[in-house]
Amino acid sequence: MANKSDILIIGAGIAGLYTALKLAPRPVTVITARPPGEAGSSPWAQGGLAAAVGPDDTPNLHFADTVQAGAGLVDPEAASVLVDGGAAAVEDLVGYGVDFDRDENGELKLGREAAHCRNRIVHAAGDQAGAAIMAALVAAARKTDHITILERIVVEDLLLDDNGAVGGVLVYDPKQSERAIVDAAETVLATGGLGGLYAVTTNPTPAQGHGLAFAARAGAIVRDPEFVQFHPTALDLGLDPAPLATEALRGDGAVLVNQDGRAFMTDYHKDADLAPRDVVARAVEAEITAGRGACLDARDSIGEAFPQAFPTVFASCQKAGLDPRTALMPVAPAAHYHMGGVITDLDGASSIEGLWAVGEVASSGVHGANRLASNSLLEALVFGARIANALRDKETAPRHDAGAPADRQDLAPKPAAPAAMKRLRKAMSAGCALMRSAQSLYKTIDVINELGAHPSMTSGLKSALVSAELIVQGALSREESRGAHYRSDFPQTDDEAFHTEICATDGANSEEEEE
Ligand code: SIN
Repeated sequence: MANKSDILIIGAGIAGLYTALKLAPRPVTVITARPPGEAGSSPWAQGGLAAAVGPDDTPNLHFADTVQAGAGLVDPEAASVLVDGGAAAVEDLVGYGVDFDRDENGELKLGREAAHCRNRIVHAAGDQAGAAIMAALVAAARKTDHITILERIVVEDLLLDDNGAVGGVLVYDPKQSERAIVDAAETVLATGGLGGLYAVTTNPTPAQGHGLAFAARAGAIVRDPEFVQFHPTALDLGLDPAPLATEALRGDGAVLVNQDGRAFMTDYHKDADLAPRDVVARAVEAEITAGRGACLDARDSIGEAFPQAFPTVFASCQKAGLDPRTALMPVAPAAHYHMGGVITDLDGASSIEGLWAVGEVASSGVHGANRLASNSLLEALVFGARIANALRDKETAPRHDAGAPADRQDLAPKPAAPAAMKRLRKAMSAGCALMRSAQSLYKTIDVINELGAHPSMTSGLKSALVSAELIVQGALSREESRGAHYRSDFPQTDDEAFHTEICATDGANSEEEEE
């Protein structure tokens, strides 16, 4: 394994690979625990890419929807950068060979998702946008010689130099059963999200917030970790992870009904099935809790077109012996996307020297308290390109290697034990999910503390616990309800929107900053 790298990217999803590609011709190393395209959330993205490319649409309209969904916490500058980059991102992906769905005139077919005022979601192969984009980026990355991919290498932590800058990573190579240090002048986190910290999630279960934990331990500021988005319509088929039933189904007319077949979303919001995602998720939860159940009915709206239009959802239903052309699909909310993360500026730089973040692990400011559907793939592309622009011509020098701290070396280089993870995920779902209160959050902290004293602590469990605690601490300090964060003991939304910021090396856990 090459033990020195100038620029190092951790993660090979859409954010990591696109950043790497855009760095050309500057050499870059990408480290990934699994071969690119074979794991992670990116290939699972069903919805697509939000971009104001329709004749009736403008970046201003996309901006307004993004800000509205974010419930007072979207950074306007970041959102402008995001929406202005939509058309170019789509065009660039077409250049990489992504075959977006088009109508009979060859124009992009644009789908609708919740809280978008226009049809602006670009899809590929129906509900397979993530897979199509990943396939194109993986092929491009494999072909170019400025990218070195170190695959099947597990990153365990960031390492700091004597000045507190990130100077590389501690890794574990399972093939050789050995730990190593990879030095780097600049390190980009593109490690994705943390839905795997919850018992019910649409994310691959290894998505446990390890990258967020690395950054927090290194002293980077983490912003708004309490904002975890729950997707309202994961298929409730008893599977882990829970297969997603994309919001595009509702965009195409599918309706949420309870067991009696009554459409219930009009009871909760004027925009009914296309209300903001947090509203729909809480409505689904309320129907389930009240014993009425929740199902998605696509029989009339999509009907016979289902297998072609939504092949991924159709395949998931089929595996469970369910035919969505003729039957209702049982659904439940599932942890889906983390809006909070490592605070970055508009170029993706974190609060500590040598560390950058992009994609779901970052808090770039575009999502606020509630991400607008399908904005995340666009964010990964737009901000990945900005990091690449900032780094391509940057003069770098190797940083002084401070070595791996002893407490990291002592941990077993393994994922969390299944029993410990099961307990953590259950506790997070019970105490820190769609509804929270001080009581439920303190109970969750108790479980995190008990697991923290686990006699056979592993590096994977340690990182999962750090991330879980960040979410819970953020949720405790936000004594209001806003966007995806709902406190039953503080149901009001404060007049002044504020960010939660946590910097582990401050000693203090949490500080609040006015927006
Ligand atoms: C979906 O397809 O419903 C998910 C899209 C997203 O989360 O952006």
